[in-house]
Amino acid sequence: MSVVAEDITVSYGQHRALRGVSLKAQPGQVTAIVGPNGSGKSTLLGAMTGSLPYLGEVRLNGQDIRSMKPWALAAQRAVLPQTARLAFPFTVIETVRLGLQFGTAGDRPEVPSQALAKVGLAHYANRSFHDLSGGEAQRVMLARVLAQVWAPVENGQPRWLFLDEPVSSLDIGHQLQVMEIARDFAQSGGGVIAVMHDLNLTALYADRVAILSKGEMLAVGTPNEVLTDATLSAAYECQLRVSHPPPADIPFILPHAAVTQNTRP
Ligand SMILES: Nc1ncnc2c1ncn2[C@@H]1O[C@H](COP(=O)(O)OP(=O)(O)O)[C@@H](O)[C@H]1O
Ligand SMILES: [Mg+2]
Repeated sequence: MSVVAEDITVSYGQHRALRGVSLKAQPGQVTAIVGPNGSGKSTLLGAMTGSLPYLGEVRLNGQDIRSMKPWALAAQRAVLPQTARLAFPFTVIETVRLGLQFGTAGDRPEVPSQALAKVGLAHYANRSFHDLSGGEAQRVMLARVLAQVWAPVENGQPRWLFLDEPVSSLDIGHQLQVMEIARDFAQSGGGVIAVMHDLNLTALYADRVAILSKGEMLAVGTPNEVLTDATLSAAYECQLRVSHPPPADIPFILPHAAVTQNTRP
């Protein structure tokens, strides 16, 4: 039971966005995909969730996703897109309820308000989604995907959260809240695959990290294995310095210039 992407190639017209990329994600873990702007992170997520045409193969809990009906896919994995737009002026709770439509919690009407409470927005239930700030809207959309795959394990199979930059609009407190939710989902037996921008947050919460660069997979491993000076500086094409401050010994990334210029006597 895992998510396996094998030899994925995606082109937009003449532009090849991904070249022969492979990635395996295990349930019980948060797998982060990082890399500079335009390196193919959203494209990889799009292929792994079956929302983009691709060459190669993607297996979700052992099944080729090309052979799965849309409702079967929706019951096993939920997708938080990078930008969330709603065409209709739904209220917040109606927006979260949309997650139930295809998901596994369909006959559990209490799930949307529980999902909303989980992201700390229970008191916003009857507000209009269009009136929310960017960060609030992002958390409501997370509640929606949580409602879709409410149980991290169902019928002995892990459920999967695919999150594209889930904390991009959030303040640091809510970044931690959302990453804790992702970690809890994984620790309860589900799987999380998250595109991440913030390398330090990635180091704190990811069990495995995949680094994309120019449409190719540069490195995959634990944060300690792949979040290194050499790999990050190569991927982001700037000088980065990784330290391991106590007590946790978790990689901490700073720009090289900041480390050398701001060192006070
Ligand atoms: N719909 C599209 N049409 C054409 N090119 C696209 C499209 N979406 C993405 N791209 C290009 O593909 C590359 C990878 O994009 P994307 O996966 O969105 O990058 P990331 O999420 O890592 O920032 C970029 O060069 C981007 O400009
Ligand atoms: Mg993206």
